Amino acid sequence: MLTERKSLITGNWKMHKTLAEARALAREIRLGLPVKARLEVALAPPYTALAAVYEENYGSPICLAAQDTYWEKQGAFTGAISPVMLKDAGCRFVIVGHSERRQIFGETNETVNRKLKAVLDTGLCPILCVGETIEQRQAGRTLEVVTAQLREGLAGITGLSGENLVIAYEPVWAIGTGLNATPDQAQEVHGVIRRLLAEMGAPAQSIRILYGGSVTPDNAASLLAQPDIDGALVGGASLKADSFLKIIASAG
Ligand code: 13P
Repeated sequence: MLTERKSLITGNWKMHKTLAEARALAREIRLGLPVKARLEVALAPPYTALAAVYEENYGSPICLAAQDTYWEKQGAFTGAISPVMLKDAGCRFVIVGHSERRQIFGETNETVNRKLKAVLDTGLCPILCVGETIEQRQAGRTLEVVTAQLREGLAGITGLSGENLVIAYEPVWAIGTGLNATPDQAQEVHGVIRRLLAEMGAPAQSIRILYGGSVTPDNAASLLAQPDIDGALVGGASLKADSFLKIIASAG
């Protein structure tokens, strides 16, 4: 990774952890965190635990992230949470367009685009997730799919910087399967994403591109050693302090 970009290791807890469990995990991570100047760590607990994790990590360098958002600021949208509320809860990052949101909840590049605009308008930093399914990869369509997700997701958005945008490449076939992309496979797509960002006029060398999909303490170092892999978005291995801290130790 180039030195101008700080590594970012984010734990996506998905639909896991009660309040007590979330507090305990956040505390263990805080207490075990190494001091590294070129490393950032973020935790994305479920909405119900955002405030508790914020409190637990208050005064530490750990940032808070939300797993999703709606695009309106407020109103009659039962069940929805707005970026304004997430900012109020202490979030700095918001994951947008995770493949589980796209596949299970029917999100499209268009809804992802609306969410990105809302998150940026609120002054938060989206983590835009892109990635192909196994069928798309086998059909040789990986780069086409990722390109469309990036171009349509970021359509009409200007003023991007390393401070207000993070991309996460998460091949759908690697998520929760134990089958991570090889460092070469991931680097190929990360390189394409960076070139695309540059083509779109964004400061590509400053924007962090994370890899996600079955990241573990065993494979983190070889993935993070790739020139265009600037961090990780970790699911399963972020649910235990021990494995998440080992991944953090291999970054930065
Ligand atoms: P796993 O690390 O469990 O494969 O999940 C990856 C992911 O979806 C992170 O957002």
